[in-house]
Parts: sequence; structure tokens; C-alpha cells
Amino acid sequence: MSAVTTGGGLLDAVRQRLAESGAEPTPARVAAALRAQGRLLGDTEVLGVAEELRCELVGTGPLESLLADPSVTDVLVSAPDQVWVDRGGGLEPTSVSFADAASVRRLAQRLAAVAGRRLDDARPWVDARLPDGTRMHAVLPPVAVGSTCLSLRVVRPKAFSLAELTAAGTVPPGGERVLRALIEARLSYVISGGTGTGKTTLLSSLLGLVGGRERIVLAEDSAELRPDHPHVVRLEGRPANQEGAGLVTLRDLVRQALRMRPDRLVVGEVRGDEVTELLAALNTGHEGGCGTLHANTAADVPARLEALGTAAGLDRAALHSQLAAALSVVIHLVRDRSGRRRIAEVHVLERDDAGLVVPVPALRWGAEGFAYERGWARLRRLLGETLGDAL
Ligand SMILES: Nc1ncnc2c1ncn2[C@@H]1O[C@H](COP(=O)(O)OP(=O)(O)O)[C@@H](O)[C@H]1O
Ligand SMILES: [Mg+2]
Repeated sequence: MSAVTTGGGLLDAVRQRLAESGAEPTPARVAAALRAQGRLLGDTEVLGVAEELRCELVGTGPLESLLADPSVTDVLVSAPDQVWVDRGGGLEPTSVSFADAASVRRLAQRLAAVAGRRLDDARPWVDARLPDGTRMHAVLPPVAVGSTCLSLRVVRPKAFSLAELTAAGTVPPGGERVLRALIEARLSYVISGGTGTGKTTLLSSLLGLVGGRERIVLAEDSAELRPDHPHVVRLEGRPANQEGAGLVTLRDLVRQALRMRPDRLVVGEVRGDEVTELLAALNTGHEGGCGTLHANTAADVPARLEALGTAAGLDRAALHSQLAAALSVVIHLVRDRSGRRRIAEVHVLERDDAGLVVPVPALRWGAEGFAYERGWARLRRLLGETLGDAL
């Protein structure tokens, strides 16, 4: 039974009482608060009130029902009456709305607090992970013009299997064999693509193919990867606290990971100076390393890594020669108009006459699965025996 039938005034009184005590709305506390109001309700009613308050105080309020839908990957609030979801087919408006702008702000601030972060006029945005793994981002007005903007990205605990990704149209028919061979041959690779193209998801799935006797060590700014594998060590960075202490960077994590005897070193998302340690590691016997990289095309990958590397003090020539030895394959993802995320191309890296690394397409998703491109002969060689007979 919902609290609507128990009366809004009553709910307010219970809310007030719990707020004063600072306690979470467990059924027992709600029952006690109701008794204090002179109300004796049945168990179902008490549970109904407790659930409603829980959603409001510790959950995600009106967004709860959207987030509970297993097909929803993103929930975006751009105004109190503009709540959008993505169920894998692009953004759709919903009928969910907030009472007013202040409610959106309160929810964003409460979620930030749950994540141990600040969100107020002095620090008007936050990018954090909630305890259940959900990524939250929020910006308060006036930086966000008009209304608090809240973006939630749900991390579904289960990794997609490769078969599921094939069924979803992310991996082309027959593409699974190439990916398996890539893992088995211990080639190092990055998965590139724009935001939300499914890089992290594909990486999780590929890690699930790693042999059960290998040890995977993950270094992530924000723990998102959930590989289905028996031996995974997860390291997660953290921001500095309010006194400016305790910062743990991805670079720190990569350094530590290397001392933890990884069979596969994984950098969830390469986006800063950790690229130095990563390239050095991949050059010194850490085969099979992998990660994701934000890049709009596979051809942009060397330039992106170069930008990150030079910002960290590596010179261009050194970076390219390390890169050539460190990285073998780029798997590029796109999200097409219909919202479908798919592997568009697989590239191998070659060096041009000037010694610079250039990606060369080896496979491209054509009308009937992967079609061979110029770099195929090289990829075929790299995959060696693990691929078995030609595709
Ligand atoms: N192949 C897919 N099919 C359906 N949903 C997917 C697929 N890949 C990713 N998603 C969903 O899309 C969202 C973005 O995926 P993610 O892997 O985090 O992207 P990226 O790392 O590129 O930003 C996630 O919520 C994820 O569950
Ligand atoms: Mg990602």
C-alpha cells in the first residue's frame, strides 16, 4: 500500500521525525514514528511508507523505477519535467517528473554525499560513483543554465557474453573467432570509440575470454569493468579529500598493478599521464595488456596517445617507437543512428617512413560480417595459429 492512502500529512510528519533523528527509514523506525503520530497501521502499510521514504531519502527518488528497468543504461535529468532514458536505442523522454527544480538539486546533492563528494555553489559539479556502481554526474545552476543537470549511468553487474554481444549486433557474425584469437595470442589492444559506444562493455566481455589460470589486474579511475573471470584484482583511484590529501591517480594504480604479477594489465580508460607507465610496461614483457581510449576514429588513436604522452613529458619519436612495440591492435566501436553499438573496424598498427605509428584497417564490418582490408595479412600473422583456418 502506498503512502498516498495513508495521507500526505502523515508522511510529512514521519519524514520530519526521521529527519530530526537523522536515522534511516527502516520499517521499525517508521513504525515507531507512526506510533508517535498516534497511528497504528498494518505491516503492509508500514512497509509501504518505509519504502516510499527510503526511495526518497536513500534511493534515487522518482528515478528509482527507471533505474530498476534492466534495459535502461542511462537516466538523464535536464529539467524537473525533462527526464530521459536510454534503453539501448537512443534517448527517449519519460513521463517521470520532479516536483520542482529544488527537488532535482536535492537529489543530486544527496547522491553526491552518498558518494562521499561535495556538490554546492563552491563546487558546482561532481563526477562520482555511487556505492552500487552507478556513475553519477551533476552540474548545479547557474553553471547549468536553468536547472540542475543530473546524469546517471547504470553499471549492470553482469558482463555481456560475447554471444550476447553478437546477438545484439555489436560483434559481427563470425567476428567472435577473431576476438578469441586476439585474446589467446596475447596481443595488446585498445578499444577506441566515442563516449557511450560500449568500449568498457566490450572490454569486460573480452576479459571474460582470458584463460582461467591467468591473473587480471584492473586499474581504473572509476571501477566499471565487471569481467566474468575467476581471478580479477580491481584497483580504483580516488580524488583528493577536502583537505587536498589522499589523491590516488591512475598512474599510481598502474605502477602498483605492475608489481602485482599481472598476466593481463588492464587500464580501464587511458586518459592521462598513466600512458607512460602503460607503454613502458607493454614494452617490457607485459603482453596482452589492454584498455579503452576515447577517440572518434581508429586513425585518431596514435594522435590521442601522443597528446597524452607528450603532456606527460615523453618526446614524440620516443613515444611512437614505444607505441609500435607496445600495441598491436585497435578495435574501433561506433554507435549508429539507431543507437546500436557495433565494432566498425579492427586496425593493426604499422610505422610509416617517418617512423610514426599509423593504424591500418585490417577488418571492416561490411554487409556480411567482417570484410578484409589492407592490414589483414598482418593481423592474420599476429593472430598466428590461434585463429585456425582462415575465416
Ligand atoms: N553492445 C551493447 N548493447 C547494448 N548496450 C550496451 C552495449 N554496450 C554497452 N552498452 C550499454 O551502453 C552504456 C555505455 O557503455 P560503456 O561500455 O560504458 O561505453 P563507453 O565505455 O564507450 O563509454 C552502458 O550502460 C552499457 O550497459
Ligand atoms: Mg568507458
